[in-house]
Amino acid sequence: MEDKGLPQPRPVAVVGAGLTGASWAGLFAAHGLETRIYDRDAAAGEAACARAVQAAVFLAERGLADPDEVEAGCAGLRAVCDPAEAFAGVCHVQECVTEDLSVKKAVFRTMTGLAPGDTLFATSSSGLSITDIQAGLEAADRCLAAHPYNPPHLVPLVEVVGGPSTSASTIERAVAFYRSVGKEPVVVHRDVPGYICNRLSAALWREAVELVRSGVASVAEVDAAVTEGPGLRWAVMGPHLLYHLGGGPGGIRGHLQHLTHVKEGMLRDLATWTTFPEDTADLLEAGLADETRGRGLAELALARDEALAAILKARRI
Ligand SMILES: NC(=O)c1ccc[n+]([C@@H]2O[C@H](COP(=O)([O-])OP(=O)(O)OC[C@H]3O[C@@H](n4cnc5c(N)ncnc54)[C@H](O)[C@@H]3O)[C@@H](O)[C@H]2O)c1
Repeated sequence: MEDKGLPQPRPVAVVGAGLTGASWAGLFAAHGLETRIYDRDAAAGEAACARAVQAAVFLAERGLADPDEVEAGCAGLRAVCDPAEAFAGVCHVQECVTEDLSVKKAVFRTMTGLAPGDTLFATSSSGLSITDIQAGLEAADRCLAAHPYNPPHLVPLVEVVGGPSTSASTIERAVAFYRSVGKEPVVVHRDVPGYICNRLSAALWREAVELVRSGVASVAEVDAAVTEGPGLRWAVMGPHLLYHLGGGPGGIRGHLQHLTHVKEGMLRDLATWTTFPEDTADLLEAGLADETRGRGLAELALARDEALAAILKARRI
């Protein structure tokens, strides 16, 4: 990175060196930030550093990150075993430890005690509540949820959510920080389970499972119906805007006038269970074996990432 005499951004820390942590670290490094990865398991931290470098280099090679920033960021990326060293001087911590409230609360207590007095602390949690995580912490006003979609280094969305003690300036600073590393933050105004997208995913997936269980379509057929149809449109516009376009000259009002009775008929027929049926894993595993035809998880993840990178570049046109 060219030194223009500008103040260097402060380091950031990622806590939890699993799937999510390594990917966040790769994104931060790709934007030239000095990034420390802390995990209670030192070997996991080292392995995550290697995966983060791979992620950052992938972004540079696909034209999605500046190669000079990637080089600088990768040079400043390291696994740190001592929490005091990990959090010293950082401006932002992205917490990515195991999805367990007591583990997260303990991690938040440690990091808020060791980091500077202006650091932001963001949990990546998919399903826990920031209200519960921040309860009782002195630095609760600087704690928030910032939920990524997998893999965070490629999917731009981050859902930013405060709890009752989160300050407005924390949300503003977090939004600015995520924009600075190429994310598209969406602020969620209330702390609800699953934020926006995991609620939508849960509703869609329940019906997707039910379509297989009831013999309407196979696993591969349901997946193809999504990726070859609505999934393509959803990469361009959201459901409200798409239905607005689907209503003819009357827009969304016309859409509702023409199709309300049809949609309500479907709604009455949809699955409503709230506990996954016992046969779900067996059914999906068998269907996925047909769909993947021997392609392993690493091969599939690479295919997903290559397609995501191409779509992101195409959307810039
Ligand atoms: N996997 C996803 O698709 C995804 C997507 C969005 C958000 N998330 C969220 O990200 C978080 C992490 O999920 P994951 O799938 O990466 O988990 P993971 O199991 O892959 O990794 C968790 C890591 O946390 C470490 N860890 C556990 N306790 C710790 C502690 N006390 N101190 C330091 N490190 C500790 C573990 O050693 C492990 O390396 C979860 O809250 C999850 O809900 C996951």
